[in-house]
Order: sequence, then structure tokens, then C-alpha cells
Amino acid sequence: ITVYVPCDTTALSLGADRVAQALELAAAAQGQEINLVRNGSRGLFWLEPLVEVQTAQGRMAYGPVEPEQVEELVAAGLFEGKSGHALYLGDIEQHPYLAQQQRLTFARIGITDPICIEDYLAHGGFAGLKKAAEVTAQNIVDEVKASGLRGRGGAAFPAGIKWQTVLDEPGGQQKYVVCNADEGDSGTFADRLVMECDPYMLIEGMAIAGLAVGATVGFIYLRSEYLLSEKMLNEAIRRAEAQGYLGDNVCGSGRAFRLEVRLGAGAYICGEETSLLESLEGKRGLVRSKPPLPAIKGLFGQPTVVNNVLSLAAVPYIMANGGKAYADYGMGRSLGTLPIQLAGNIKQGGLIELAFGVSLRTVLEDFGAGTFTGRPIKAVQVGGPLMAYMPENQWDTPMDYEAFAELGAGIGHGGVVVFDDTVDMGEQARFAMEFCAVESCGKCTPCRIGSVRGVEVIDRIRAGENRDNNLELLEDLCETMVDGSLCAMGGMTPFPVQSVMKYFPEDLMASPRQVE
Ligand code: NAI
Ligand code: SF4
Repeated sequence: ITVYVPCDTTALSLGADRVAQALELAAAAQGQEINLVRNGSRGLFWLEPLVEVQTAQGRMAYGPVEPEQVEELVAAGLFEGKSGHALYLGDIEQHPYLAQQQRLTFARIGITDPICIEDYLAHGGFAGLKKAAEVTAQNIVDEVKASGLRGRGGAAFPAGIKWQTVLDEPGGQQKYVVCNADEGDSGTFADRLVMECDPYMLIEGMAIAGLAVGATVGFIYLRSEYLLSEKMLNEAIRRAEAQGYLGDNVCGSGRAFRLEVRLGAGAYICGEETSLLESLEGKRGLVRSKPPLPAIKGLFGQPTVVNNVLSLAAVPYIMANGGKAYADYGMGRSLGTLPIQLAGNIKQGGLIELAFGVSLRTVLEDFGAGTFTGRPIKAVQVGGPLMAYMPENQWDTPMDYEAFAELGAGIGHGGVVVFDDTVDMGEQARFAMEFCAVESCGKCTPCRIGSVRGVEVIDRIRAGENRDNNLELLEDLCETMVDGSLCAMGGMTPFPVQSVMKYFPEDLMASPRQVE
């Protein structure tokens, strides 16, 4: 009997290890031999720890399982996949939350043992790299261009064009591939799930990028909090190298690619690509002026591909199935799928991979099932702390980079954070400025000073001091920060503030105590 208990951070924090132990004890007590597999999480977080049992009819699931419930679950026939318990969920693949998704990047996640390379191979792993090893660098770049893949870190720049820029830089010099795994947006966890639950996919994507641009060295810049990701990645890198998927002769291509993981030190700004490169070089995370672009002068001044985890993780599918197969999903210029991370005050939070074009309302209602508190949703922030808060009349907009930009909103890295009607939006506006003041790298004045002044002005507005003048001042300040900041940190901090001024002015005008 094969029993699955996830081993990612979410499941672990909810007691998955204790559930696994209880299952082993219960099996021993019954004289039942079980093969306990620690799989990745399928991303249905409200059901974690989710226990699955392999049967002839599929993987029958139970969740959320408390360690204390294991005995009664086993007595009710868990090892046979029977249905006699309230936690029984049936065939997990038929669960509407999963069945309605279009999982391309997350196809294996939750199914396989993350660290087992044989499992990865059995589920189509390394097929993309093997193809890449047989074709020219330009062929690989062309395939990525054909897929329409745009940077999933937030800026949505076409990945194929970025790769072409690096490939076109003269050969014979050291080039690098850097993975931005400094996942810092509020409510996001897709990068973490990839690294903890399918690390070979990221390794494969980076090796393909290396072959595509002629880079022989790659770095994964990992946020310091992701210690389990670090462990998984290092072990996966070791095993991939031992089997010839990394090293001097990647998949028999005669070309080399080596990979190292480097830990950040907890600064949000180190997710900005140029300060990430500074940090990787051992310096303080200070933003560099662009140009030159990292694609031309990046790590140690050499041509460098910098891509987010999700962008690189999409590449193995694209190489294995062809760019067109990926581009068949999505709408307009937003092609392929978006791993949406649903978080905040929501009943069914988790990972939802869907083709671009789905509405936010579908995500919130059909997948999320409304708020956790049962109260109405008041605002949704999509794309991290630097993006606008969206009121209800915008939730029918299709999730598409251009459609969101038209509203002054953004999709960013795909994080969706939900707030119910008890939220104080004035406080959220203040928080945006405060966050910027704390996280600013300090290089340019509009961001370094503007964010501090922003907090003060908002406090004065909320205290009812000279309100009209201060509102005008806040508008001017936002405009100066947008136009005058060197990077997205100061340049986008005004977006959430402006959205509160536009859509939730009553909260901004009220003193914090007056909002229910
Ligand atoms: P950007 O628009 O300046 O650049 C996007 C990417 O395209 C960069 O890698 C840049 O080097 C590259 N690029 C631009 N022109 C190019 C060309 N002609 N050839 C080759 N490469 C080229 O945006 P930036 O400042 O890198 O990112 C801002 C975004 O970051 C925001 O939109 C926000 O959504 C996102 N963000 C994501 C966070 C996360 O945790 N994932 C956190 C904070 C912000
Ligand atoms: Fe640094 Fe802020 Fe200027 Fe960006 S906008 S360079 S974070 S001071």
C-alpha cells in the first residue's frame, strides 16, 4: 500500500510529520506494510495535511488530517482508500479545485516525490533538456519566443527576447544564468512550491537557459527564509550532476552547465534584479542604474539571464512540447498559464494554475469560496505590495497583463491577497508607504525620503489636519515617486496608495478608529 503525506513547508507547519509518524505506527499496529512517500503539496492548502492512498481507482484523499485522527481514519479503512470518514475526499484528481485547473508547470507537483529523480523521469522530466541538448542555441531561443512566455516575476518582459539579447552577446566570454528565487511579494508561494516540490524542474529550466545563451554557470539566488528549498535544491543539484543532467557534458551535448544556490539576507529590494546581482557579488543590495541591462552587463559585468523561478520552470514544458503547445493557452499577448497564489482572508487558499484570461471573480468565488471569515470581500490586491487594490467592479476583468494595466492594476507574480469588509484601507495605504520606507535601498531621493513623507502626510489626512492641502500633497508626492524613482520599489509604491484614494476615499479620510 502506498500512502502519500506531503513534505512542503505548509504541510509541515500544519503537522504533516506527526501525521506521517502516526500513520506508520497505525500500520505497524495492524501488521500492515506501507510504503510511505513524502510527496510535494498539491497546493490545496486548506486541506493540508492531505493524506492520499493509492488504489486501483486512483489516489483517494483525506484532509485536513490531525495526527490524533489517524487511528480512527485507519479504522475506517484509510489504507484501503475507503469512504467511511468525514475527512474522505475521494479521488483527489477529481476534486473540482484541481480538475478545473490547467496545470502545465505544476503538472507533477503533489504527485511525485520531489527528490526522487526516477520519479521525475517517469513523469516526463528532463525531456525538454534532452531535446535542447540536440539542437542549436538559436533553436532553443526560437522555441521560447514561439511560446510567448513573458517573465513571471512581475514585469512580463518576453523571455525569448531577453535570452536572444544574451545569446547575441559575443561568445568566448563568461555568461551566467541567474534565477531570482527571492520570492518577496505578499501572499506569494509559487516559487517555493516549485523548489520544494519539483526542484528538478527548475534545474532543468536553468540548464536549458544555459544551453540557449551559452552560459556555463548558473546561480539560484534564494531568499534566506527558504531553508527547506535550499536543502531540496542542493540535494537535487547533486543528484542531477551525478546523472549527467548538469556538469561538463549536459545530456551528452558536449556543453557544460553548473549550478549553485546562494542565500540572500532578508532584503526585499534584493528581488530587484540589479540589487540581486550586487548581493550575489557579495556587496550591499543597492540598485544599479539601467542601462546597461543585465542581459549585456550583469553578474560580474558579464552577459546574464536573470529570470524568476516560474519563468524558468515553464521552460521544460515548452521545450518538451513545443512553444506552440504553450502558446495555445491564454489570451492576447498573455500566453500560457499563470500560477495564481490565492491568499489572505479566503476560505480555500492555494495554488491555482490557469490559462490567462480567467476572471478574478472566478478565482475568488469558484476556487476561493469567499472569505475565511464569511464576510463580504471588500478589496483584493493582486501582484504584491506594490500593486493597486481592486474594488468589486473590477473583478470581472480577465487576468491578462494588458487588461490589468489598463485599470492601473497589475498581475505581477500572480499573488492574490483578499481582504474582507473589516479592512481599514486607509491603514493599507499607509502600510504601502511604510513598507517602502523600511525596504528602500536608499539610492534615490523620491523613494528614500518620499516614502517617509508619505507616511506623515497620510497620518495628517487621517487626523483631519488641513485635509484638502494634504490630499493634494499626497497626489503630488505619488506622482514624483512614480516619475522620479530609479526602480519599481519607489516607482510603484504609489499604486496601492492611489487606488485607495480613488476607490476607498472614505477609509482614507476616517481616523483609524472610526472604520468598523
Ligand atoms: P523592467 O520592466 O525594468 O524589466 C523587466 C526585465 O526585462 C528585466 O529583467 C530587464 O533587464 C529585462 N529587459 C528589459 N528590456 C530588455 C531588452 N531590451 N533586452 C533584454 N532584456 C530586457 O522591470 P523590473 O524592474 O525588472 O521589475 C519590476 C517588476 O517586478 C514589477 O512589475 C513587479 O511586478 C515585480 N516585482 C516582483 C516581486 C516578486 O517577489 N516576484 C517583488 C517586487 C516587484
Ligand atoms: Fe533604491 Fe527606492 Fe531608488 Fe529603487 S526606488 S533605487 S529601492 S531608493
